Amino acid sequence: MASGFASWNLLPLLLLVMCACTCGARDVHQGMYDHDHQELHANDVHDHDHHDPPSSFMNHMDHMDPSSMVFFTLNDLKLGRTMPFYFRERDPSISPQFLPREEADSIPFSSKQLPNLLQLFSFQPESSQAKAMEHTLNQCETRPIKGETKFCATSLESMLDFAHEVFGLDSAFKILTTTHLRKYSRTSIIQNYTVLEAPKEIISAPRYVVVTCHTMPYPYAIFYCHSLESENKVFKVSLAGQNGDRLSAVAICHMDTSQWNRHHAANNDVYDDQCRKSSNVVVKL
Ligand SMILES: *[C@@H]1O[C@H](CO)[C@@H](O)[C@H](O)[C@H]1NC(C)=O
Repeated sequence: MASGFASWNLLPLLLLVMCACTCGARDVHQGMYDHDHQELHANDVHDHDHHDPPSSFMNHMDHMDPSSMVFFTLNDLKLGRTMPFYFRERDPSISPQFLPREEADSIPFSSKQLPNLLQLFSFQPESSQAKAMEHTLNQCETRPIKGETKFCATSLESMLDFAHEVFGLDSAFKILTTTHLRKYSRTSIIQNYTVLEAPKEIISAPRYVVVTCHTMPYPYAIFYCHSLESENKVFKVSLAGQNGDRLSAVAICHMDTSQWNRHHAANNDVYDDQCRKSSNVVVKL
């Protein structure tokens, strides 16, 4: 419990640090924090102190956020357009937490170490948790596709380091997050969302100026971050759910998906441009 408490306390501090280095990015406060949890899959840990095994962290079948796999096109990003999405409820009491870097670095993060990790977290090898951990480790170990740089961050500090590496050490950046402005029901469901205003283009540029980070199922917070050399467009999209929910969502569109076919879930229906909603997008200023 002690370590869990420590890492919760660290988070606001790190967010402050981020604020400092993003110089006035308005989105940071709500931050990675809120926003992450909307895309957290069923990878929830009640208590991430690994001496006290997490009681429920994920159901293997649920570990992919269904809508994180939903792709749409630029053409869908229009006022009045309706699309089904799923935005997971943020619940800090059951969501995996970032570990402080020293602690994260002391735990191996490698599929070769899976048997040891299962022991450490007290998961049976055939359990859904074990399968989800294996899936996450494998995803993190796949080689980047051509024109992609990727990294799985096991701590906030390492996530920031990755952004610095991609953007250059002197670069300022800001973090855009998807946030609920209004939420009617406690439970998250797939529902139709309507685009309320013309989406606002935040950036449109090639050459690694956008880093997208997705949460992955794991006993503690893991972000799968990647950046593409080809052109990306980032939008802020105001959405209204069928049940009255309001969201300020971030969408990222990859304008050249020719390298994707074998690697991405979009391969059933390949368009030249592919957009998806995202919980965290880091944009070079
Ligand atoms: C969303 O709207 C479409 C078209 O009206 C409908 O076919 C679909 O079932 C709706 N989806 C949900 C999740 O309500």
